[in-house]
Amino acid sequence: MRVLYAILATLLAAPANSKYIVPGGRWHDTNGTLINAHGAGITFDQKTGRFWWFGEYKTQAQPEGPIDSHPYISPDNIIQRPKVAYSPETDDYHMWWHADNSTYGLLLQGHAVSSTIGGPYTFVDATAPLGNWSQDFGMFTDYKDGRSYALYSNGDSVNGRDVYISSMNDNLTALEKAVYRFPKFDLEAPSIMQTEKSYWALMSHKTGYRPNITFSRSKTGEWTPIKGTTYTAQNAKTSGDAYKQEAVSKATYRAENA
Ligand SMILES: *[C@@H]1O[C@H](CO)[C@@H](O)[C@H](O)[C@H]1NC(C)=O
Ligand SMILES: *[C@@H]1O[C@H](CO)[C@@H](O)[C@H](O)[C@H]1NC(C)=O
Ligand SMILES: *[C@@H]1O[C@H](CO)[C@@H](O)[C@H](O)[C@H]1NC(C)=O
Ligand SMILES: *[C@@H]1O[C@H](CO)[C@@H](O)[C@H](O)[C@H]1NC(C)=O
Ligand SMILES: *[C@@H]1O[C@H](CO)[C@@H](O)[C@H](O)[C@H]1NC(C)=O
Repeated sequence: MRVLYAILATLLAAPANSKYIVPGGRWHDTNGTLINAHGAGITFDQKTGRFWWFGEYKTQAQPEGPIDSHPYISPDNIIQRPKVAYSPETDDYHMWWHADNSTYGLLLQGHAVSSTIGGPYTFVDATAPLGNWSQDFGMFTDYKDGRSYALYSNGDSVNGRDVYISSMNDNLTALEKAVYRFPKFDLEAPSIMQTEKSYWALMSHKTGYRPNITFSRSKTGEWTPIKGTTYTAQNAKTSGDAYKQEAVSKATYRAENA
């Protein structure tokens, strides 16, 4: 049994005196400590009643893995974009991330498990999702039915450049099937936000840290770019694309090539 790594756990809170989250600005926790948690994921935990923020602690030359010579979590490996979701079925917490070697040639998804949200998390394995490559990794849990999805781009190669939304099994130990593919969109850093009526997918064009926003919208279940205005106006500094899917039903969301 190996402990993967300690988790930065913090209530999702701006400093007490700060009313707004400012993209590009420095965020501090309630202790005044700079939040250093990149490629992050936010998980709401029913048990603790808190939002938990999981991310990469990035400093100059920060080793990403704790175990020497391990094929997936040695300090030479890449451990990026950790996300955590809870499985009611097995009553445990599952962390998934982009697992890779230093030249980004493996393109795998890492998996670790813990009985408490704060960890420590025990490494399980790193695998190719449904046999495919997986680069930037995101995860989304639908609050309406509790189902979780893995979001990942499949790399920069000619055969890649897609972004997948794949459903996970109930115990969050594996992917089940690809439910949607953004073909050759060549986007990265996928995430989904859910409102009562809609699902919004936000992703970046591969323009480094330069903001690059476009929009998509669909009423048919297909995720297509929205040529819109509000998001651009409100989030001018966010690097991402927004996709909106009208949530006709959860079945729509899961439909293959809907
Ligand atoms: C925040 O400060 C309190 C009081 O000094 C301390 O007990 C706690 O460990 C700190 N938490 C973190 C995450 O640094
Ligand atoms: C990373 O993995 C790829 C695919 O197996 C391999 O071609 C490449 O040499 C590896 N890089 C390193 C630094 O081991
Ligand atoms: C794997 O990726 C390729 C290229 O995007 C795609 O044609 C294929 O359908 C994918 N398979 C699955 C199961 O995701
Ligand atoms: C997780 O679910 C899969 C089927 O979805 C099942 O094969 C596997 O045994 C389950 N594992 C645990 C630990 O419950
Ligand atoms: C945004 O991405 C698109 C598609 O890759 C590209 O054509 C455009 O030049 C990018 N814009 C900026 C400001 O980088």
